[in-house]
Amino acid sequence: MKTLKSFSSSSSSIISITLVVVITLSLSHDPVVVNGSTAGGDDALDFNRWYEHIVNGLLSGSNRTLLVHCGRKGKDFGDQIVNVRMEFTWSFKDVFGKKVYWCYLRKANSEHATFNVYWKESDYHTWLGYRCKWKHCIWIAKDDGIYIKNIPENIDELVHHWEK
Ligand SMILES: *[C@@H]1O[C@H](CO)[C@@H](O)[C@H](O)[C@H]1NC(C)=O
Ligand SMILES: *[C@@H]1O[C@H](CO)[C@@H](O)[C@H](O)[C@H]1NC(C)=O
Repeated sequence: MKTLKSFSSSSSSIISITLVVVITLSLSHDPVVVNGSTAGGDDALDFNRWYEHIVNGLLSGSNRTLLVHCGRKGKDFGDQIVNVRMEFTWSFKDVFGKKVYWCYLRKANSEHATFNVYWKESDYHTWLGYRCKWKHCIWIAKDDGIYIKNIPENIDELVHHWEK
């Protein structure tokens, strides 16, 4: 009886460990181009996980396709074609605070911009973390430049201009 009980409790803990592993794996989020309005993921309990969103918010021009090329040291996501209202998105953990992600964006008229989309901040400098609400960094390519969504204040802020 006692043996049976301890067997069943250890097997149930194996089951819960398995569940945790499955859930954790399902939260990993490889780069993908998706419809921006359906992109989400809000596992607030998954600390240190960040989501990057590179949104095509272009309004004018005959060809509003955006070329998006992002990566970090040791990882290059390659060229992505992102249509209007779509986004290129990925998620990652930055437990050690060492990751820096960059993106190169190019419009069909060859205007372009290169900038960092994620970097580790100190406890006293929280420009990015505040705007991303420490979870979702939403960069939006618009006609006049690249904006970041300031999530707490619900405004888009112009951060980078296109270069010719
Ligand atoms: C994105 O999804 C919304 C809602 O499902 C849909 O109305 C819209 O047409 C989609 N946009 C694109 C570019 O696929
Ligand atoms: C639009 O521009 C993209 C690059 O941003 C290019 O790959 C594509 O061929 C262009 N499409 C047309 C119809 O010109």
